[in-house]
Amino acid sequence: MLVNTLACWLSLGSLAFAGAIPRNADPLPPSRVIVERQATTSTSVPDGQCTNGPRTRNCWSSGFSIATDFDAKAPPAGKTVTYNLEITNTTLNPDGAGDRNVMLINNQFPGPVIRASWGDTLVVNVKNSLADNGTGIHWHGIRQLNSCQHDGVPGVTECPIAPGKSRQYVFKCTQFGTSWYHSHWSAQYSEGTLGTLIIDGPATANYDEDLGTLPITEWYSLPGFTLNEQAQHSQVGPPKPDNILVNGTHVNANGGGSYFTMKVKKGKKYRIRIINTSVDTTFSVSMDKHPFTVITSDFVPIKPIVADQLTLAIGQRYDVVINANQTADNYWFRVSVGTDCGSNDMVGKDIPLGAILQYDGAPDGNPTSTGVTMRTSCNDETNLVPFVPNSVPTDIVPQAEMQLNHHQDATDNFLFRWTIDGSPIIVDWNQPSLQTALEGSSTFGNNSNVYEMPSSNWYFWWIQTTSFIAIPHPIHLHGHDFYILGSGAGTWDGSTAGLNFANPTRRDTATLPGGGYLLLAFPADNPGLWVMHCHIAWHASQGLSVQFLERKTEIKGAIGSTAAFDQGCNEWDDYWFPGNHPYNQTDSGI
Ligand SMILES: *[C@@H]1O[C@H](CO)[C@@H](O)[C@H](O)[C@H]1NC(C)=O
Ligand SMILES: *[C@@H]1O[C@H](CO)[C@@H](O)[C@H](O)[C@H]1NC(C)=O
Ligand SMILES: *[C@@H]1O[C@H](CO)[C@@H](O)[C@H](O)[C@H]1NC(C)=O
Ligand SMILES: *[C@@H]1O[C@H](CO)[C@@H](O)[C@H](O)[C@H]1NC(C)=O
Ligand SMILES: *[C@@H]1O[C@H](CO)[C@@H](O)[C@H](O)[C@H]1NC(C)=O
Ligand SMILES: *[C@@H]1O[C@H](CO)[C@@H](O)[C@H](O)[C@H]1NC(C)=O
Ligand SMILES: *[C@@H]1O[C@H](CO)[C@@H](O)[C@H](O)[C@H]1NC(C)=O
Repeated sequence: MLVNTLACWLSLGSLAFAGAIPRNADPLPPSRVIVERQATTSTSVPDGQCTNGPRTRNCWSSGFSIATDFDAKAPPAGKTVTYNLEITNTTLNPDGAGDRNVMLINNQFPGPVIRASWGDTLVVNVKNSLADNGTGIHWHGIRQLNSCQHDGVPGVTECPIAPGKSRQYVFKCTQFGTSWYHSHWSAQYSEGTLGTLIIDGPATANYDEDLGTLPITEWYSLPGFTLNEQAQHSQVGPPKPDNILVNGTHVNANGGGSYFTMKVKKGKKYRIRIINTSVDTTFSVSMDKHPFTVITSDFVPIKPIVADQLTLAIGQRYDVVINANQTADNYWFRVSVGTDCGSNDMVGKDIPLGAILQYDGAPDGNPTSTGVTMRTSCNDETNLVPFVPNSVPTDIVPQAEMQLNHHQDATDNFLFRWTIDGSPIIVDWNQPSLQTALEGSSTFGNNSNVYEMPSSNWYFWWIQTTSFIAIPHPIHLHGHDFYILGSGAGTWDGSTAGLNFANPTRRDTATLPGGGYLLLAFPADNPGLWVMHCHIAWHASQGLSVQFLERKTEIKGAIGSTAAFDQGCNEWDDYWFPGNHPYNQTDSGI
């Protein structure tokens, strides 16, 4: 076999590909064959003898370490971890400025932190206790290898969960790191239907303690669905947020509310998992006097880099390590709004935006620390080099460009739609595309925006802005990490000369520059239906999405039983039958 031959040639020994994930009998493309080798960050003890700890974060368990390519090798055998989530219609006052209607998970905002370890199987029971909304929960960034029916996208991989009904999501944690989960049903996550997710595993830098997830979002005083309707008919762009929230709390403009506080002890190193869970805001973050050692971008471990500040598009994550080696005091964790691509009512009010880092022994109260000048730009970070190097074949041919445009219909109350190749996506909640594919049909309807990936090759996608509205879009892919070959302003000239095929940044969310292009590649190694969409919630609602139909004929074999899928659709059909629409689908549905 190609794999074994290469492995022997590279003198890798027997550990090398034990437990490789069978990929429907396809050999790994040569470019994906990586050397299973010793982690080198801080120890040279062989993997099998080295245990994960504060000074050996690169280790994990026998045969698995930070040097393992989690796309190519099965994770260690793990345990089953179960969570129960219930979505309810309630109110919330996170910044002291007053109550708002929200749809929360287990009555918490953000919802509970879901935590498992690399190789575990997560079982999450979701109950829809809303009186009159469907729902569906997506596990952002989770690869869902051979489990696309658990990806949680109503109208694509499932029928929505009907009011009063439940669904069990089951998936294997083949990756490790930080992410979040959120409703993918219409614009529902803007109602607060989200939480964070940690999969413990090895890391590329050492730390003493894990402070956990730090989600950052904007906050609106109006309900999300109200804003979504405004955004769909606006002639002046989306509504302006009233505030930001860091881990679910912040001060407001009138002096109420409180900052989120992280407590540390001098002399220790801490891991913080920063996530942008916003609806329409790019943020930059920094910690006064405490530079970040950045160790991941999304789920992908990177060669550590030191940064004074980081810019995060929606859906992006950075795990950082800080060294609490300063005078025991209070320090600002600063957040700035990317005003180049959005706004917030708190901008210009002379109120610090962010949270507080408090050393043990420091008095309560706001910090007096000073820091760097915060960015207001909306560009992705650069120099993010994956720790496990993988390369993209240089001879792959780009698919025809995907043209991103928009139209606004003056005769239909100025209905605004983003289009890909002329069409906004509009899914059918009663006939998810997965059902159509399982039925063996290729008739997906007028607004399905399906792009087929029939073979197990690499695919090279070219997203090109042709709209005169030159704003950046955070593009997120389900079922895969993509490899970023290039991006830029204007129109791509088709030349592959300057593109990055050798261990390019790989992640699951990347920014399409305003007015520009984004060039992505990934191998078709996960049969299923996977959406790729703009993560600005309003834009997804306004149609900015495609779906990849990957190796159609192999999906049924890959995902196994469809009994639960069918039951979910029967329950939804019973609720949403012709004539029984307590509300109308006014947007894309995702
Ligand atoms: C939530 O409650 C409000 C106020 O009672 C009601 O108007 C709304 O329809 C409810 N929404 C859902 C999704 O059940
Ligand atoms: C979901 O519930 C909200 C009220 O809570 C309502 O405004 C909205 O129309 C419902 N459904 C959809 C598809 O937006
Ligand atoms: C944010 O809040 C969650 C839930 O209380 C907690 O687990 C986490 O540690 C907090 N994050 C930080 C960075 O302190
Ligand atoms: C979150 O992403 C949005 C959209 O890409 C961006 O405007 C915002 O600045 C990001 N927030 C952070 C904290 O990076
Ligand atoms: C504190 O830690 C940072 C990051 O590790 C390091 O660059 C800096 O030199 C340290 N400062 C002191 C005063 O030890
Ligand atoms: C799809 O679009 C075509 C051409 O615009 C139209 O004739 C047809 O009725 C549409 N089909 C559906 C099911 O809407
Ligand atoms: C749904 O749309 C139809 C047709 O536009 C309209 O007659 C009906 O009143 C709407 N239903 C609701 C609940 O808004």
